[in-house]
Amino acid sequence: VIPEIEMPGHSLAAITAYPELACTAGPFAVMTIWGVSDDILCPSEKTFTFLEDVLTEVLALFPSQMIHIGGDEAPKVRWKASPLAQEIIKREGLKDEHELQSWFIKRIDTWLTARGRRLVGWDEILEGGLAPGATVMSWRGISGGIDAARLGRDVIMTPGSHLYLDHYQGDARFEPLAIGGLTTLDRVDSFEPIPDVLTADESKHILGAQGNVWTEYLRTPTSVEYMAYPRALALAEVVWSPREKRE
Ligand code: ACM
Repeated sequence: VIPEIEMPGHSLAAITAYPELACTAGPFAVMTIWGVSDDILCPSEKTFTFLEDVLTEVLALFPSQMIHIGGDEAPKVRWKASPLAQEIIKREGLKDEHELQSWFIKRIDTWLTARGRRLVGWDEILEGGLAPGATVMSWRGISGGIDAARLGRDVIMTPGSHLYLDHYQGDARFEPLAIGGLTTLDRVDSFEPIPDVLTADESKHILGAQGNVWTEYLRTPTSVEYMAYPRALALAEVVWSPREKRE
């Protein structure tokens, strides 16, 4: 079990409880529907102290070597308008807010590495330069995974095009309401975790693949199972059987 503690985006619940973690005065409210908020954690020392406190508790609960820190879907509007964020960009010689996000993630990477853990993040963590110890989950297609493997970093392939198991698995007229898309059993079965464009050495960095069963539309464990299977069986064969033995 690998826990994921999102930062700096998807953090509105924390910001609502501790408004001092934001770049503006608010007011903030916990989201009551899914989506992406412009209000993200400000890269302040208060934020790092808070995150290190949270992660200290997380490490005590989860023995996994890998700790997922999210990193996806963090709009930069607040950081663009924040004197504190702009001051860090200047002080650290960063080019823009994407490099500021990388600086943020690198700090957490250093902190986790010093505690014998490894950071995992969604492919957005590549955007301003990848933290040295990071493993990338490639979700916006496979190109982030290819870039990370070429940089010599480990990768977990989980592209929305093939491995989002919250998408419809059949004709939407006959299926329970889902978030959208169409990812059939055949499509999962056709997934090739190791892209042809990688050399043998680069391919070693593709640790495997992951199916994502996000639960916005899934209210019961039975619904989750309905979406996970049989596609998870196809994915298991893709990642655990040699290519020539797959049926
Ligand atoms: C993601 O689906 N935002 C990783």
